Amino acid sequence: RLVYVLNGPNLNLLGKRQPHIYGHVTLADVEAECRKLAGELKLDLRFHQSNREYEIIDWIHAAREEAGGIVINPAAFTHTSVAILDALNTFEAPVVEVHISNVHKREAFRHHSYVSLRADGVIAGFGTQGYTLALRRVARLIDEKAA
Ligand code: DQA
Repeated sequence: RLVYVLNGPNLNLLGKRQPHIYGHVTLADVEAECRKLAGELKLDLRFHQSNREYEIIDWIHAAREEAGGIVINPAAFTHTSVAILDALNTFEAPVVEVHISNVHKREAFRHHSYVSLRADGVIAGFGTQGYTLALRRVARLIDEKAA
């Protein structure tokens, strides 16, 4: 019951970055919330952020070897990265896509997601609460698979 939580570019600045859109909670706060819930759900977590596309791809490859699910906020790579989609298409367990903001309420270029072509579910516009909701969903999907 290992889950990877992966975060794309600029999310290292969460809390400082456009707080009117993304809020004041930092990525360290999000990680702490996720770890607390993971304890309750009996999940192990790997929590990562990178501004580099290849690093996210390498983590998805590592997840293939050991993870039961992925929660991913690909940030701007959502809208550009066929390579992240291709990597996720090699991963066979549950994938939930998270966006802090409601991307559908924003610029048209944010309305399309390559990652959604693979994701089992998408959460957008729930703020940073989306991460814990996504973790709950992945835990449920892992349980259903095991049953
Ligand atoms: C985001 C939405 C993306 O459009 C944007 O590029 C981000 C963050 C979100 O969490 O709302 O960096 O993924």
